[in-house]
Amino acid sequence: MKSYNIALIKGDGIGPEVIDEAKKVLDAVSQVYNFKIKYEEYLMGGCAYDAYKNPLPEITIQGCLKADAILFGAIGGSKWDNLPRELRPESGLLRLRKELEVFANIRPAIVFEELLEASTLKPEVIADTDLVIIRELISGIYFGKPRGKDQNHGYNTMAYTKKEIERIAKIGFQFAANRRKKLCSVDKANVLEVSQLWREVVTDVSKEYPEIELTHQYIDNASMQLIKDPRQFDVILTGNLFGDILSDEAGMLTGSIGLLPSASIGEKVALYEPIHGSAPDIAGMGIANPIAAILSASMLLKYTLKETQAAEAINQAVSKVLKKGCRTQDIAHFGAEKICSTSQMGDLITECLERG
Ligand code: IPM
Ligand code: MG
Repeated sequence: MKSYNIALIKGDGIGPEVIDEAKKVLDAVSQVYNFKIKYEEYLMGGCAYDAYKNPLPEITIQGCLKADAILFGAIGGSKWDNLPRELRPESGLLRLRKELEVFANIRPAIVFEELLEASTLKPEVIADTDLVIIRELISGIYFGKPRGKDQNHGYNTMAYTKKEIERIAKIGFQFAANRRKKLCSVDKANVLEVSQLWREVVTDVSKEYPEIELTHQYIDNASMQLIKDPRQFDVILTGNLFGDILSDEAGMLTGSIGLLPSASIGEKVALYEPIHGSAPDIAGMGIANPIAAILSASMLLKYTLKETQAAEAINQAVSKVLKKGCRTQDIAHFGAEKICSTSQMGDLITECLERG
């Protein structure tokens, strides 16, 4: 029997609750499809700071590097907000992404038919939306130097090298090749030199992919277009900060950011995580939506373990449960459906798998 090693990082806030459900679903699907998953748990974020005074302890880095893949929940909370930047939970995650060299962050946004009413946008605008944001993850303004702050001056640097743009652009074109063959690159080339280079390099790389239709949009326009007519997009390729912002926006197309999974891939081990944060305001209440974490586990099965049938079974089970009208609070429409807790949602999805 095939056996895989997964590093689990539950993190802070609702992280542990949603990862427990993802693990429940992974365990069930591995039985149905006859493979075995072994888990090792590691600390990162605020909980790691509390235990080790370090949001990304060495033991976590080493554990992640020897795993087949990493499943991560969320980090952060007001308790750690006043720490110096490098000790904050977010710095742990950013350093982990860098250590793993996961330069490509894949963030699909698919609107479930059953949830058309859950979005704040009109159903006729969002129906059939199926797009993926490819966000550069380990460079750009998040990591550019110089950076700094004193009492009168704060500054960061948005920088990309040609090589960094080329490698993320290739991922974008490859995704587009397996989809509807449209790629929209998002930048701010009317103002920023870094974006001018971005646009030139993406255009150059596009010559290797003549079957893909390449368009360019400025970030301000793209933010508007995403709300106005999301169906125009297939693959959106963009840098670190613009991708961070656009992916939250895309989350609201689907009704809740609690639905969106992500994969971060690169040279070493891949990292899978829901897009949402640690939501400290609802942590421990059992009301968080575990679907983003469960779909992240499905992406892990598909992209890293190549257990594509098992991945598809999870996606189908999520659809079935939503079709039945079961909802966590964040996606309930006028309270008409059966409201379920985080763990009930995990159970329902697991049951659908077992029967499927
Ligand atoms: C995300 C998050 C992170 C980011 C934070 C928690 C550092 O917002 O994964 O989108 O900005 O990348
Ligand atoms: Mg974000």
